[in-house]
Amino acid sequence: MATNPEPWLGALSWWRKGAKRYWGSATVGFTIIVIIFIADYRNSNTCSSTSDLQSTGDLVPLTLLQRAQATGAFCLDGSLPGYHFREGFGSGSANWLLHLEGGGWCNSIKTCNARKGTALGSSKYMGRAVQFDGILSRHPSQNPDFYNWNRVKIRYCDGASFAGHPESEFKNGTELFFRGQLIWEAIMKELLSLGMSKAKQALLSGCSAGGLATFIHCDDFRDHLPKDATVKCLSDAGFFLDEPDILGNRTMLAFYQDVVKLQGVAKSLHENCVGIMEPFKCIFPQEIIKNVRTPFFIVNPAYDSWQIQNILVPVASDPQGYWSSCRLSIQKCDSTQIKRLQGFRDSMLEALSMFQENKEGGMFINSCFAHCQTVMDEIWHSPNSPRINNKSIAESVGDWYFNREVSKQIDCPYPCNPTCYNMELNQQHLPY
Ligand SMILES: *[C@@H]1O[C@H](CO)[C@@H](O)[C@H](O)[C@H]1NC(C)=O
Ligand SMILES: *[C@@H]1O[C@H](CO)[C@@H](O)[C@H](O)[C@H]1NC(C)=O
Ligand SMILES: *[C@@H]1O[C@H](CO)[C@@H](O)[C@H](O)[C@H]1NC(C)=O
Repeated sequence: MATNPEPWLGALSWWRKGAKRYWGSATVGFTIIVIIFIADYRNSNTCSSTSDLQSTGDLVPLTLLQRAQATGAFCLDGSLPGYHFREGFGSGSANWLLHLEGGGWCNSIKTCNARKGTALGSSKYMGRAVQFDGILSRHPSQNPDFYNWNRVKIRYCDGASFAGHPESEFKNGTELFFRGQLIWEAIMKELLSLGMSKAKQALLSGCSAGGLATFIHCDDFRDHLPKDATVKCLSDAGFFLDEPDILGNRTMLAFYQDVVKLQGVAKSLHENCVGIMEPFKCIFPQEIIKNVRTPFFIVNPAYDSWQIQNILVPVASDPQGYWSSCRLSIQKCDSTQIKRLQGFRDSMLEALSMFQENKEGGMFINSCFAHCQTVMDEIWHSPNSPRINNKSIAESVGDWYFNREVSKQIDCPYPCNPTCYNMELNQQHLPY
């Protein structure tokens, strides 16, 4: 109990520019629940309490994937993987929304071993129920297009974005299971047996490392579903850049190189890519997306807080601590640092330029300092949501999914958008 299911999010709070409201000392790694905001208004007397927020909530129990036993589709520690399932209703009962949980990666025996003692490496530590919010919410006011679909949150416990392979396991007494790809396959089988084999509409989504998994598995997901079904994919904060850090070191590339090598991820990457460049380069979404056939939507803040902290300014590349405040809050960056962040945004837009031409694609690249925006009610769809051209993320994704209109939203650079929620972290996101 009392484990924060998404410790990589760190403790966080939000600063909302326009309304000058401060969501104070938030994140209680509250049992199992994703994140609960404790409102602590500095400039306002109105008060919404946690219980208000909870009362709209929906706690969904964990199901262990018993069928994983047969194929050995285990978490890092050998335990069974798990998922949370809410049945669809009404007009949504033949539609499926999947969400792949994120939580970094492990790139060494040491970091994978550490993970075995957490919910990100073992179902022994997973909360027995999670809150379904944002894109998983059952409330039409919070989730206008998907609220009545079958909704599934798939837990992440393999450390390699559901793409590790057992051939890479050690045969010398180091007990680590690299079964991410098998977990993905077992989950597919399970959901197909629960009715997904008759899906009419489906959306595979995921956040962070789960967003990367969405890129990796999107076409396979499509191939599992009926030919006449509408199938699309959405990555939230999964567009990790191959960008040098502030010292010019290729920190992220080296990190992914270790992950790919350790867990044999190359086998899950596209043959067109691994045939022409080193496999660890093929794990970057800008390469994966070139080969994805299924309609895809990319949600990513241009100043993704995880990426700023681990790709642009990893701790080891800032030994003097010049970035220690800016890294936790974009409001605390000086003008030189903001310039570096604008450069990071330029690189992201550049990496997306080819995808922008994709006729079936959609995007929402806002200028907030955030990470994982689809799984929180306040951000996904609420009167206070970050907006581009007056559209919330939920509206933009819905417009794209249902072909209501072309939906390729790119925000103006920070700090131009008053609707932004900018995270104020009190600790850094960990890379693993
Ligand atoms: C097993 O092999 C790996 C890779 O060669 C090594 O790093 C690790 O320490 C070994 N483990 C044991 C228990 O010998
Ligand atoms: C970064 O690169 C510099 C030189 O380019 C090198 O001396 C240093 O060891 C690298 N630092 C890290 C943290 O990788
Ligand atoms: C923005 O959208 C909201 C609801 O979607 C609408 O009520 C409002 O009129 C729009 N504002 C503008 C300026 O278009």
